[in-house]
Amino acid sequence: MSILVTGGAGFIGSHTCVELINSGYEPIIIDNLCNSKSESIKRIEEITGKRIKFYECDIRDRAGLDRVFAENCIEAVIHFAGLKCVPESISEPLKYYDNNIGGTVTLCEAMKAAGCKKIVFSSSATVYGSENPSPLREDMPEGKTTNPYGTTKLYIEKVLKDLYASDNSWSVCLLRYFNPIGAHKSGKIGEDPKGIPNNLVPYVSQVAVGKLDHLNVCGNDYPTPDGTGVRDYIHVVDLALGHIKAVEKVLKESGCSTYNLGTGKGYSVLDVVKAFEKASGREVKYVIAPRRPGDIATCYSDPSKAKAELGWEAVRGIEEMCEDSWRWQSQNPNGY
Ligand code: NAD
Ligand code: WQD
Repeated sequence: MSILVTGGAGFIGSHTCVELINSGYEPIIIDNLCNSKSESIKRIEEITGKRIKFYECDIRDRAGLDRVFAENCIEAVIHFAGLKCVPESISEPLKYYDNNIGGTVTLCEAMKAAGCKKIVFSSSATVYGSENPSPLREDMPEGKTTNPYGTTKLYIEKVLKDLYASDNSWSVCLLRYFNPIGAHKSGKIGEDPKGIPNNLVPYVSQVAVGKLDHLNVCGNDYPTPDGTGVRDYIHVVDLALGHIKAVEKVLKESGCSTYNLGTGKGYSVLDVVKAFEKASGREVKYVIAPRRPGDIATCYSDPSKAKAELGWEAVRGIEEMCEDSWRWQSQNPNGY
């Protein structure tokens, strides 16, 4: 059964393609490679021993999308394609609104025209905003987002909810990811940020491998056990497996549902530094730096709805996440 994976050459998309193949599905990738390389697709093929159909195509290209739907019998779409850099979204908001929201609207129009009305969407814990207390539950009100990137996720959720409200034959699953890290056990695929990483674990990995001198710990005066920010880190393979459950759900029934994909556990920046040092056997030098604007103290999920309704829960712990991130980083010090 063919599943269209937009953004399938990226970090989470590539891991999800491996798990789709492991579960007997045939992923078809659309990606414009604006934040990835086609090498990741070759690596998925090496891991799984299966050839993957790949279209180098932008999701805003309606004619390109129509061709993909015409040439394949696509049962459902997992929609990862999007820009995700928070600081860039502040300096270039139009780029984010156009790519993420405009792209999703074009994708849904092409899906509707092709009669494919099943979609799993990559949303984010960022839609809870800064005011809801953790553990975050799906029935909490969406918050005020703190940057244009987060606003695109909030609006896309609204677009997809409105689409379902207008036509109940759609099947929509909104997955709110917490902080995905780790990599496939083979060390062949992983997160490959361009330039200096914005996110904690890619930064820590590059310090450990010697590409960066030290980590700036952004604030140690938060109301958390050690003063540094607390997040719900989730292994990307657990996250990928959550998508398999979500695909099964959209294939089975129409509806519109929202799930947190997190572990329910919070770790501080310094917890992550310690776990990474243990996993890598390397020192991770750090200095305490000012808070990063827009950051919140604590963010972790209540993952019980996904467990109850999708039969999914994250099983990989922080040690395994750091070991797998390190294997990827040390085997591929310069990425793909
Ligand atoms: P990623 O950048 O590695 O993957 C996204 C992929 O989409 C890239 O391969 C990129 O080339 C592609 N893409 C972007 N715009 C496109 C367009 N217009 N047309 C075609 N392809 C396009 O990012 P990721 O970490 O794998 O994230 C996947 C999705 O999950 C994104 O939507 C992101 O916002 C969301 N998400 C990520 C995180 C995280 O921390 N990584 C957390 C929550 C949500
Ligand atoms: C984690 C913790 C930082 C870097 C971001 C997006 C969010 C989602 C996931 C997509 C925080 C601290 C970080 C550094 C540090 N993405 N930190 N030094 O901010 O929780 O979430 O990625 O949807 O929308 O905002 O993740 O990895 O950037 O930060 O001390 O160099 O690490 O302050 O406490 P964040 P992160």
